[in-house]
Amino acid sequence: MSSPSTSSVAAPHLAAFTAVVESRRSVRKFTDTPIPDAVLKDCLRLAMLAPNSSNLQPWEFYVLDSPKKRAAAVDICMNQNAAKTANKLIAIVARTDNWRDQAKKNIREFPDRPVPKKVKDYYNKVVPFDFFRGPINSVSAAKWGVAQVFRQVKGPIKSPYYTYDDVKNWATNNTALAAENLMLALRAHGFDSCAMGGFDEPAMRKLLNLSDEHHIVMMLAAGERDDKGIYNTQYRFDFDQFVKYV
Ligand SMILES: Cc1cc2nc3c(=O)[nH]c(=O)nc-3n(C[C@H](O)[C@H](O)[C@H](O)COP(=O)(O)O)c2cc1C
Repeated sequence: MSSPSTSSVAAPHLAAFTAVVESRRSVRKFTDTPIPDAVLKDCLRLAMLAPNSSNLQPWEFYVLDSPKKRAAAVDICMNQNAAKTANKLIAIVARTDNWRDQAKKNIREFPDRPVPKKVKDYYNKVVPFDFFRGPINSVSAAKWGVAQVFRQVKGPIKSPYYTYDDVKNWATNNTALAAENLMLALRAHGFDSCAMGGFDEPAMRKLLNLSDEHHIVMMLAAGERDDKGIYNTQYRFDFDQFVKYV
């Protein structure tokens, strides 16, 4: 579907945004041109401006700077060309275990002083209720019961997290949004990327000394686009297959 040429509302960023989104491609071959450190830093800063649930920011970015680790990581990415030729290889990681610390940090770093009671209550009570499962999910059944009562009494509520997979899904959602911001930021800076799900996650976790509470959502190869870096013309299926007006 082509983009609209006019807009009914003032949209000063539309042309730049469209150019960034439409020119982003998955690039599998990069030149030797390095991404300046300041550019990568700005891209990571922009990545972390992604919307995220309760501002808990469960993401981490591991830039593989050590040549030894980098070589091993390429192997773990099954020697994909994007990984091999990338100027920077980044592991984009979702944390499933740091919600409590991040909640406390939200109270400490909340920009308004004094911190509103509503904010404190949210991070001290609502967030722990949402996430706390106890050892081997021992608290989850009770939480489920409380959630059902709330539903009956108060009406619709968001389900809390009952299992590790629930939290992993939550952390992955948030981190994937940051990943897309990162890819678009690289593009806006004149660089490119290739998201990679094709890697051995347990091996990568071991290489990066990460625990089971660190889920590597994707690896990202980044660098300057080589003339032969794009393997095929971009295409998507029909718009109407995906959009339902209900
Ligand atoms: C989560 C995810 C995992 C991906 N894994 C790989 C991968 O392992 N290797 C690869 O070459 N491309 C990978 N891709 C890139 C997709 O193949 C690509 O986005 C898709 O074909 C559409 O092409 P485009 O990005 O150029 O629009 C991945 C993309 C995403 C979002």
